[in-house]
Amino acid sequence: MPYQSSHIMNKKNIALLAGGNSGEAEISFKSALIIEQNIDQDLYNVFKINLHKTDWHYIDGEGQQHQIDKNDFSLMLNGEKINFECAFIAIHGTPGEDGMLQGYFELLQIPYTTCDHTTSAITFNKSYCNKIVAASGVNISHSVHLFNTQAYNIQQILEEISLPCFVKPNNGGSSIGMSKVNHAQDLEAAILKAFQEDNQVLIEEFIEGKELSCGMIKANDKILVFPLTQIISENEYFDYEAKYLGKSKEVTPAEVDETIAIKVKSTATYLYNKLNCKGIVRFDFILKSNSEDLYFLEVNTVPGQSAESIVPQQIRSMGLTIREVYTMLIEESMKKS
Ligand SMILES: Nc1ncnc2c1ncn2[C@@H]1O[C@H](COP(=O)(O)OP(=O)(O)O)[C@@H](O)[C@H]1O
Ligand SMILES: [Mg+2]
Repeated sequence: MPYQSSHIMNKKNIALLAGGNSGEAEISFKSALIIEQNIDQDLYNVFKINLHKTDWHYIDGEGQQHQIDKNDFSLMLNGEKINFECAFIAIHGTPGEDGMLQGYFELLQIPYTTCDHTTSAITFNKSYCNKIVAASGVNISHSVHLFNTQAYNIQQILEEISLPCFVKPNNGGSSIGMSKVNHAQDLEAAILKAFQEDNQVLIEEFIEGKELSCGMIKANDKILVFPLTQIISENEYFDYEAKYLGKSKEVTPAEVDETIAIKVKSTATYLYNKLNCKGIVRFDFILKSNSEDLYFLEVNTVPGQSAESIVPQQIRSMGLTIREVYTMLIEESMKKS
C-alpha cells in the first residue's frame, strides 16, 4: 500500500511481519498477502515488513526499501518517524512462531497478535509440546526425540517405535523435511533428511484415522471455536504438495458425528487454556480409526492465512469475514498492553 501521510492521522499503524528465516518464508508471503488484502483499511494503516535474518525492511509505493530501526521497531518515512500500535505476525516458523519475535516485542512493549514467547517457544518444539499435552491427559503418538549432538541407534529406534512412523524436524512446519517411513531400511535416510532442516528430529508412530483441524480465536474473554475441517489428502499424508498444491480435499464443516465434533472442540478449548494460547491458533488431531480416541498432532500458533489455508475456510464457513476476525485479533492484542 502506498504510504500517504495525510491518511494515517487517526488510523492505527499495524506492522505486518512476513518472511522469516525458514523454509516456510514462501508460505508466509502468501499468508501476508491475504492478510494485507483483508485488514480493514478504514481502521488501520498496514505496513508490510519483510524479515530475513537481520534485514527487516518496508518497501514503499515507489519500490524503495526502508530498514526498520530495531532499537524501537520504528520506520523513518519522508523524514517522519512511524511507530506501530500492533505487530501482526504472519511468519510461520522462526522467528515468528517460536517465541523470538514475541520476546522482542514484549521487551519493547509493542502489542502483537500471537501467543506469548513462552507458549510460542514450547508449542513450536513438537516434542516438548507433546509432553505438556500428554501430562494434561490428551493422547499423543508414541515418539522418540533425537538431537544432532547425541548419537542414535537405528536398531534401538526400531525396537521402540513401530512402523509406519513419521520422521519430522522437531521445530518445523509445512511438512518440510518430513517423511512417512513404511520400511525399516528407509528410516535412516528419513532421519538424515529431517536433520537437514533442524538439529532435532521427532519420530512418531503413525496414527491411522481421520485428520481433523480446529481453528479458534480468543477475544473478549471468550473462545470462539471455528467449524472443524476434515483433511483428506490425495497423497499418503498432508504433505507440502497436499497443503499448497491442491493435492488434498478439505471438508469444512467436517462431516463427523456431533459427539465427535463436540469432543474435538472441547479438547481444543481445554488445550488452548492449558497452553495459555492467545489469538488465532489451530489444533490438529487424528481421530483414530474404529474408535473415538482423539490424538493431538500439533498446534499451529501462526496458522496459515493463504488462499489455500484452513483457518480462512473455517471463518468463511462460519459466516464471518476474515476482515472482521482480523479486526478482533488486532483489537484483542492491543488490549493486553
Ligand atoms: N503421528 C502421525 N500420525 C498420522 N499422521 C501424521 C502424524 N504426524 C504427522 N502426520 C501427518 O503429517 C502432516 C504434517 O505433520 P505435522 O506434525 O502437522 O507437521 P507440520 O508442522 O509440518 O505441519 C499431518 O497433517 C498429518 O497428515
Ligand atoms: Mg501440521
